[in-house]
Amino acid sequence: MSTWANLGLQDSASPLMEQLIFFHDHALLILVMITVLVGYLMFMLFFNSYINRFLLHGQLIEMIWTILPAIILLFIALPSLRLLYLLDEINEPSMTLKSIGHQWYWSYEYSDFNNIEFDSYMIPTNELSTDGFRLLDVDNRVILPMNSQIRILVTAADVIHSWTIPALGVKVDGTPGRLNQTNFFINRPGLFYGQCSEICGANHSFMPIVIESVPVNYFIKW
Ligand code: CUA
Repeated sequence: MSTWANLGLQDSASPLMEQLIFFHDHALLILVMITVLVGYLMFMLFFNSYINRFLLHGQLIEMIWTILPAIILLFIALPSLRLLYLLDEINEPSMTLKSIGHQWYWSYEYSDFNNIEFDSYMIPTNELSTDGFRLLDVDNRVILPMNSQIRILVTAADVIHSWTIPALGVKVDGTPGRLNQTNFFINRPGLFYGQCSEICGANHSFMPIVIESVPVNYFIKW
């Protein structure tokens, strides 16, 4: 989870999030190079004196600074497309979790695992234990097996919500009347926190998501 003064991305807990971080760093590197170059050129412009009477056109430089940005954009667009299709791939999930957004809590259904159904409410600050995380902990966590491909179906009962777990690289809108699908693979045990990220009403900030990732044999006994 994110803690104090962490302005970057959280440590990944899934292969897809790892790829997203690689792409973020790649795009940021290109962004920094362009910013430095343009910043340098703009700075040097202050010291320019217009003394060349014969400078009317420069076909070569125009060609270069038209084609070069297009090539640079390709270096961002192609890895971006690769990632887009990677995120959309469904790799034979071993179980399905359904999460339904409500104002303002999530409810979950394990339709192919003992037909478990429950609601997951945020723990209010006055009921929080000393080791709990304020505005982030819930009364009923989502328990999921690690090292297995999980499909998640997201929908909503009233308004649009968004089921978002930064460490897993998952962000899916829950829309009334629709069923959205994504999948992920958790590669380590632990607690992964998330929040609704679609402005869904007065208590939008108070419908967090907690995933408890456990080894598969623990999960089967649950
Ligand atoms: Cu649900 Cu914001």
